[in-house]
Parts: sequence; C-alpha cells; structure tokens
Amino acid sequence: MKKNVALVTGANRGIGLEVVRQLAVNGHQVILTCRNFDKGQEALKEIGLANVHFHVLDITDARSVKEIGNHVEKQFGGLDMLINNAGINYDTWQQASNADLENVKETFEANLFGAWRLILTFIPLMKRNKYGRIVNVSSGAGALEGMKGGTPGYGVSKAALNALTIKLASELMEFDILVNSVCPGWVRTEMGGSNAPRSTAQGAEGIVWAAELPSGGPTGKFFRDGKEIHF
Ligand SMILES: NC(=O)c1ccc[n+]([C@@H]2O[C@H](COP(=O)([O-])OP(=O)(O)OC[C@H]3O[C@@H](n4cnc5c(N)ncnc54)[C@H](OP(=O)(O)O)[C@@H]3O)[C@@H](O)[C@H]2O)c1
Repeated sequence: MKKNVALVTGANRGIGLEVVRQLAVNGHQVILTCRNFDKGQEALKEIGLANVHFHVLDITDARSVKEIGNHVEKQFGGLDMLINNAGINYDTWQQASNADLENVKETFEANLFGAWRLILTFIPLMKRNKYGRIVNVSSGAGALEGMKGGTPGYGVSKAALNALTIKLASELMEFDILVNSVCPGWVRTEMGGSNAPRSTAQGAEGIVWAAELPSGGPTGKFFRDGKEIHF
C-alpha cells in the first residue's frame, strides 16, 4: 500500500485519536490535530509512535486553518488524506420545531463549515499531486432516508456535510481525489456515551478503510464498516 501523509481533526480523544493510531500503525505519516495544545501533547504521548506529529488546529478558526495549510505544505510537501473527524453537539435536548438557531449555527460552523474550510485549504495541494482521499466523518443521524425529528443542529449539519461530499466527489474525481462520508456507528466516546455498543477501534476502522481506498475506488458515497449505506 502507498504510504501517505494524513491529517486528522479533533484527534485528542475519541474516534479521532483511534483513527490516528490505526493510520500510524499502517505506516502513514499522521498529523494529529486538536484545538488545545496540552491535550494534543498528551494524545501524542499516549500514541507513542514516531510517525505521528502534532499540530494545533481549531477548525472553526480561519486563521488556524490557514496556518496549518502552510505548515503542512512546508513540512510534508502535500497532503494525501484528510480526515474531517471533529464534530460537536448531538443536540438531543431540542427539536427542529423549537430549536435555538444560535446553537444550530454553532453546530454548522464546526460540523459543516469547519470540514469545508479544511477541504478548501488542502484541495490545491491534492490537485497538484493528483491524489487525495477526503473522509467526512458523518452520522446515520444525517441520512435523509428514514430521517425523523430531534437532534436538529446535529442531524441537519451532517446531512449538509453529506451533500458536500457528493458535490466535491463529482468535482474532484478527475484528479484522483476520492471524497466519501463515513458513519462510525454508535461508539463509546464523550459524544456517544458509555452505553454505546461499539469501541473506538470498531468505529475508526471504517474511516481508515475510506482513507486508504485505492485509485478507482468509490467516491461520493456514504459508508459504514466499508459497506455503502443510504444518504
Ligand atoms: N460517538 C458516536 O457514537 C458517533 C456516531 C456517529 C458519528 N460520530 C461522529 O464521529 C466524530 C468523532 O466523534 P467522537 O464520538 O469521537 O466525539 P468526541 O469524543 O466528542 O470528540 C470530538 C472531537 O472533536 C473535537 N472538536 C470539537 N470542536 C472542534 C474544533 N472547533 N476544532 C477542532 N476540534 C474540535 C473535540 O475537541 P475538544 O476535546 O477540544 O473538545 C474532540 O477531539 C464526530 O464527527 C461525530 O459527529 C460519532
């Protein structure tokens, strides 16, 4: 398998941290990013692998995103895999019919625009290298098929992220840039809670699978555990 440079957002804990670990074990150079310097240093220590590098990144901060774009270009000469993992606000306490729109906007700022901002930053590098794998970590809660009420900020922002996946995939296919959405399933993390049936290792596997897709692999699709699911 081709060894690549990968960047994972929101990787100080939960699924992101495990994605970093699995990609690093597979031999890639992995940039573990998170918004807090101390938490990032701790995560780096916990992983303890020489091919993992840490950089601060707040995906809602345009300056922080621009800075990491410059850093990655200078240090690594390009980026092959972008894992948009950071996500917030599983808003079970509100409904679409009574939602706090400020709270919904905040959710969109991270779950949709944060991912989009990073993609825009790294597309030129990926196009230049005629290679790229973009994984948008989404959720079954964002699938239009069978969608019900509740978790409005989270569900609608993930549905929008899925739409972004489709549009980008269509626009970038000719550059061997594959863009897919992946649902990790219900995973035991701060977001998923302790009752979730899946481990972070199980949740991360499908994300790593999509990041390592070979050329000619699927693009513009939605997967769980490497199997296509409905948007
Ligand atoms: N767990 C599940 O059952 C489940 C199910 C479906 C989908 N997902 C998706 O899987 C992804 C990872 O979820 P998780 O369960 O691992 O969640 P988590 O444990 O809550 O971790 C979320 C991560 O995102 C980071 N983050 C939040 N806002 C950020 C920002 N502005 N800039 C950079 N990082 C930011 C957090 O950093 P801080 O530590 O600084 O807050 C944290 O590292 C999310 O996109 C989530 O929607 C999870």
